[in-house]
Amino acid sequence: MEWVVLATIFFAMMILLIFLLPGIIGAPYVPSEQKDLETAFTKLRKIGKKDFVVDLGAGDGIVLKAAAAHGAKALGVEINPILTIWTRFQLRKIENAQIKCGDMYKFELPSETTIVYAYANNFTIPRLFKRTQDEAKRLGKTLYLISNAFDQKDIKPKKHIDPYYLYEIKP
Ligand SMILES: C[S@@+](CC[C@H](N)C(=O)[O-])C[C@H]1O[C@@H](n2cnc3c(N)ncnc32)[C@H](O)[C@@H]1O
Repeated sequence: MEWVVLATIFFAMMILLIFLLPGIIGAPYVPSEQKDLETAFTKLRKIGKKDFVVDLGAGDGIVLKAAAAHGAKALGVEINPILTIWTRFQLRKIENAQIKCGDMYKFELPSETTIVYAYANNFTIPRLFKRTQDEAKRLGKTLYLISNAFDQKDIKPKKHIDPYYLYEIKP
């Protein structure tokens, strides 16, 4: 009986770690709000069929669903394997949205990428900003970074509509 209790505690701690660690190395799992996403994809940067949105740290896929509903292709990268499986299941009937399990700091953006979406924090945004700059250089194209709630200090956004900051990142 004792081993059952120990196994349960171990299992519960593993689940807790899987959800806590990304919060420490990146950003905790807090989804964007649907109404904010409508603002982002209509007023901040109108998106459509020609767009390819990449969500760095995709969580439950709410951003991917919103982007796909506007006709864009959407791809998310998420480090939490449990969230990835759950989100993949939710996206199974949406043709133009998918999620991969991986580290957003190392993720190579597909060449079709037009918009990078991030909902991170004050410590993480500079790293994601730099990553997007490096990827814009590698791909040789301009990328738009939409950051939810956090701005990149010392860089003037192309547009700001609460809670979003839009940056144009040239190669
Ligand atoms: C604030 S949530 C945002 C979720 C989603 N982008 C949204 O706006 O609804 C941040 C997400 O990033 C994930 N995350 C944290 N560090 C990561 C990393 N290094 N690579 C990939 N995902 C990461 C977390 O697990 C969490 O789901």
